[in-house]
Amino acid sequence: MAFITRQFVRSLSSSASRQAAIKHVTIIGGGLMGAGIAQVAATTGHSVVLVDMSEDILKKSVKVIENSLKRVAKKKFAEKPEDGEAFIQKVLKNCSTSTDAASVVQSTDLVVEAIVENLKVKQGLFGSLDKVASEHTIFTSNTSSLPIADIASSTTRLDRFGGLHFFNPVPMMKLVEVIKTPSTSQKTFDTLLEFSKALGKQPVSCKDTPGFIVNRLLVPYMMEAIRLHERGHGSKEDIDVAMKLGAGYPMGPFELLDYVGLDTSKFIIDGWHAMDPDNPLFAPSPMLNKLVAEGKLGKKTGEGFYKHK
Ligand code: 3HC
Repeated sequence: MAFITRQFVRSLSSSASRQAAIKHVTIIGGGLMGAGIAQVAATTGHSVVLVDMSEDILKKSVKVIENSLKRVAKKKFAEKPEDGEAFIQKVLKNCSTSTDAASVVQSTDLVVEAIVENLKVKQGLFGSLDKVASEHTIFTSNTSSLPIADIASSTTRLDRFGGLHFFNPVPMMKLVEVIKTPSTSQKTFDTLLEFSKALGKQPVSCKDTPGFIVNRLLVPYMMEAIRLHERGHGSKEDIDVAMKLGAGYPMGPFELLDYVGLDTSKFIIDGWHAMDPDNPLFAPSPMLNKLVAEGKLGKKTGEGFYKHK
């Protein structure tokens, strides 16, 4: 009897501290990451609104989602293509688009921001959404390298603000880094962990430190590969082959730099260099800077370290 009572009390108190599950998600930013997050959230039964500044951008985002869903369906329903088509339509039904963030966030459970990596722009966005979003709405950023606490500082909901960092390509990469700032409440953090699991992802808990876990290790590694090449100690092709066949990585560092985007990598390393100029791991690279200055940003522009069709 005592056991039942204790169990009952425990379950009551845990449900009281538990936030309701996330059902409605607003993704701000229709780029590759935003579209990928929207796709995964819609696939797992969430009601998703993808927001960006123009209908044109949103049309492209929906095309990206459709193409990615076709790849998933082709694999998942290889034997029954008609079921694949039904799957695609079902997912697309869960996902709508809007150019009016302010009206969408009035009744959303979660905002995931995946816009340009600019602190002032992100602060401006969240500052204005904070005034109109529902009281219970949790705000998150998918930033690769900016401190979540700095982004959150433009809002009055520091306890309902955290980080959700996804990886490209979002539909394939199983990890989500869930970031807790000193002000993020345990309830918010637990809800974000649960949401990540509901997306079919594996969450890891991160502190609000530069690069969290993955980028703090991955970006210096990619920069070291460029420096190795700059010193003439290996061709980019050989370095890529070496890391794929010698370390089992799915892509070599130069392939991955092109995939992630050279501008993104430069933005991250420049920010860390400004913060800690004596750290040799964060030193800028003349070769990377030159390619970015020439507009060779990787796969998305057709050329980076390699040429892409
Ligand atoms: N949507 C749906 N399916 C996709 C997809 C997408 N966008 N991209 C790839 N796939 C599927 C393909 O359909 C294919 O399925 P199949 O094997 O059943 O046919 C499978 O993934 C493999 O794709 P490919 O054959 O085209 O190519 P690869 O075998 O080389 O795999 C890859 C592609 C999954 C991208 C793999 O190369 C990989 O894991 N690369 C490393 C990616 C990585 O490290 N990402 C993290 C970057 S860091 C980051 O994002 C953080 C940011 O803050 C900077």
